[in-house]
Amino acid sequence: MLKKLVFLGTGGTIAGTATDTADNVGYTAAQVGVERLLGAITGLRHAVGDCALESEQVVQIDSKDMGWRHWCALVQRVQHHLAQSDVAAVVVTHGTDTLEETAFFLSRVLDGQLLREKAVVLTCAMRPASSSTPDGPQNILDAVAVARSESALGVLAVCAGTIHSARDVQKVHPYRLNAFDSGEAGPLGFVEEGRVRWVHPCPVVGAPVSSTSVQSISSVVWPRVEIVMNYVGATGATVRALCRVPTADEPAVRGFVVAGTGNGTVHEDLLLALREAQAQGVSVVRATRCAQGCVVPSSAIGELLDSRGLSPVKARIELALELMEKAADAALAKTTSLF
Ligand code: SIN
Repeated sequence: MLKKLVFLGTGGTIAGTATDTADNVGYTAAQVGVERLLGAITGLRHAVGDCALESEQVVQIDSKDMGWRHWCALVQRVQHHLAQSDVAAVVVTHGTDTLEETAFFLSRVLDGQLLREKAVVLTCAMRPASSSTPDGPQNILDAVAVARSESALGVLAVCAGTIHSARDVQKVHPYRLNAFDSGEAGPLGFVEEGRVRWVHPCPVVGAPVSSTSVQSISSVVWPRVEIVMNYVGATGATVRALCRVPTADEPAVRGFVVAGTGNGTVHEDLLLALREAQAQGVSVVRATRCAQGCVVPSSAIGELLDSRGLSPVKARIELALELMEKAADAALAKTTSLF
């Protein structure tokens, strides 16, 4: 059977335009539709080989504006296409700014069985489509090479010839083309002249949150989880303000991730405020603001849960998913107890 590669467009710099072809920073993201982007890539037909190509514009935004409703739309479309027997893989074009968060989210909620069979490859660009030297076309060609590789599984990110896992990928540079890094874990592989060289097998996660299935995800409320940071002179004022009685426009905070200094250390006043929040039923997770490594559990850092190696932004997603699962389980238990 002829296999299909499905491209889902979400916007980003890869779809951005500037009035001057030499301008790689003063552009507007998310201007060119995914079909037009693909149509402009010389060599794409050759790269997809015997696969058919399909594209769909899911959203068209600068990824700094990505929100829960965009994720809901995206995850539904990714899951839909992945579940088709004639689809080999899904490629998502995305802005670089929050790509790591979307990749991690998809890796946690998509059906784990499908992710053990197929890949979802996110790709992006640091220069707009209008640039005289754009990086988007090559990144898309590299993403296609990865998507077609038999060894590609789970949610992956491809940028500047490097393949990253959803768990480890992190944007580490605001300008250079090779803007992503996998920290101590290192990349999963490389794309060289259209050939994929794997250095590690793809880790596969998928749907840990059974009660928050992709089908029901848009009916679920995303619990408010805020990130606070420790720094010189930090206080508990922000945490205390956020814990005040919610207003109609501002839902109650359900969780905090604290990006601690060093091994997750937190200023004593901030720690006190986080403990007060915990006592009110707000969940607190401790991560580190260090670019590498993870919080090493120790008696010195006390009773706050650590983020199990996740960066603050990914720990926030993980905590929100856990809170959603707890809420769904509690609702189910309440319904069951009525019978
Ligand atoms: C965005 O994240 O949508 C804009 C920045 C980029 O893609 O590099």
